[in-house]
Amino acid sequence: MTCSIAPGKIILFGEHFVVKGAPAIGFAVSKHAKVCVEKGDFQVVSEQAGRIEQGSVLYRAVTRLIASASSIFGCSKDVRILIDSEIPIGSGMGSSAALSVALAHAYLTHCGASFDKELVNKLAYEAEKEVHSKPSGIDNTLATYGGFLKYKSGVFEKLEIRLGDEVDFLVVNTKMKRQTGRIVEKVLKLYEKYPEILVNVYTAASVLVEKALDSLKGKDYESIGRLMLLNHGLLWTIGVSHEVNDLIVHKLVGKGCYGAKLSGAGRGGIVVGLVSKSLSTRIEEELRGEGLEVFRVTPDYEGVRSV
Ligand code: MEV
Repeated sequence: MTCSIAPGKIILFGEHFVVKGAPAIGFAVSKHAKVCVEKGDFQVVSEQAGRIEQGSVLYRAVTRLIASASSIFGCSKDVRILIDSEIPIGSGMGSSAALSVALAHAYLTHCGASFDKELVNKLAYEAEKEVHSKPSGIDNTLATYGGFLKYKSGVFEKLEIRLGDEVDFLVVNTKMKRQTGRIVEKVLKLYEKYPEILVNVYTAASVLVEKALDSLKGKDYESIGRLMLLNHGLLWTIGVSHEVNDLIVHKLVGKGCYGAKLSGAGRGGIVVGLVSKSLSTRIEEELRGEGLEVFRVTPDYEGVRSV
């Protein structure tokens, strides 16, 4: 049996503004999707959801990926695929992309192919098209290469950023269901209605990302936190926050985080806080005690790999 893992992701700065050409920064996190491949009758089994039905989106994504990979290398499609993921689904943490990336890596390894990460990323991107109608590609790219990425108008730049061991990110999952496409549409409508105002908000978001790059490179945690709060404020301005997001941001900062913001599409989803390691366990336990789903992550600098 060959197994690979690939990380989920968090958008740290610039979501939504990125849709109209502003830059965004995301990073791969220490929550992974694991996929194992072994010889056998074709079937897809998930540790969390059991046997995956033929008509499902996941099944279609898996078969599309296996068909492309096997046609390139002539590998046998007689494989049993076992999926085990610790990335929350539908929270904007790139669960489907991490799964596709881990699958491509595990399958190509199983078949003894000589491949590189570029091919894994390409195969996973094609599979992502089964799941999301217009994937930007940031999720599969982060799952493949790990670390921090800047994304602007379809161009990805791997960033030489390495944070120290002295900080953690706390992630609170609001578990609120929402549709990214609808939220994006509403934001674009707001822009159409008040372009003279919104253009300034978008300019502010672009400048903010450039400042954030400097702060991340310099490991200036105070200023990263301050910029996260500013970014949350801009997201509130364009209507994608929710009182639940705002409440969690206030809680995280009130308990000692450097900063916090919603991450991804908003109107629920996840909130991420930057916190010194000396405080993170205590804050995590306190929030869990209040009934919130919360976990700690650090950046995954490696991306997809065999395990
Ligand atoms: C959603 O995770 C991120 C958005 O910026 C949409 C997108 O970039 O496609 C809201």
